[in-house]
Amino acid sequence: MALLSEALSDHHDLNPFDSDRAELNQWLKQEARKAHHAGTARVTVWTDEVTGVVVGYYAIAPTNVAPDGLSRKARAGLSGPIPGYLIVKLALRQQLMGTGLGGQLLLDALETVAAAANVAGGRLVVVDAIDERAHGFYAHYGFTPIAGGMGSGVPERHPATGDGPEQRRGA
Ligand SMILES: CC(C)(COP(=O)(O)OP(=O)(O)OC[C@H]1O[C@@H](n2cnc3c(N)ncnc32)[C@H](O)[C@@H]1OP(=O)(O)O)[C@@H](O)C(=O)NCCC(=O)NCCS
Repeated sequence: MALLSEALSDHHDLNPFDSDRAELNQWLKQEARKAHHAGTARVTVWTDEVTGVVVGYYAIAPTNVAPDGLSRKARAGLSGPIPGYLIVKLALRQQLMGTGLGGQLLLDALETVAAAANVAGGRLVVVDAIDERAHGFYAHYGFTPIAGGMGSGVPERHPATGDGPEQRRGA
């Protein structure tokens, strides 16, 4: 299956999307466009290049992380809130889970974060693990618990492995 990674746009049909978490399906269908247009988060969707069906998505927003409980390296000598990015949501279509695409989806999100940090700064990536399974998934990629979620350093280099989708950036 050839996949495209694209910014959420009006032509994407979100209704068929089905991960195994109802709240993440609902957020995509009811909140994602509002958040994207309001600028409170930016949403990227993965689509099947042939059918146009949305098979995954993630949403990213800027955030500030309280320094309490962060490592000295993460605090970087700062005493106030540390700027970074929150992966607000991330989900893959249920039928594709367990095939490695979820990992690629996270790497795509981290690539987006790295690009944003390159032009706007930011030291941390924070995720809100929805359950124990998500916690395990993020821990597998090096995220560690911090107050209120899990965090990791913003990647400094392009993290993609080459197995992911073609990128289409834009509005
Ligand atoms: C989270 C999600 C995107 C992961 O996708 P996935 O297809 O299940 O995971 P993958 O098959 O891509 O796994 C990638 C790697 O992570 C590992 N992994 C996946 N889930 C894991 C877990 N719970 N614990 C530890 N490792 C895990 C896999 O073993 C694999 O490792 P490898 O690359 O060394 O072989 C997907 O399960 C999903 O959409 N879940 C519902 C929504 C959700 O929970 N989102 C996250 C919180 S908002």
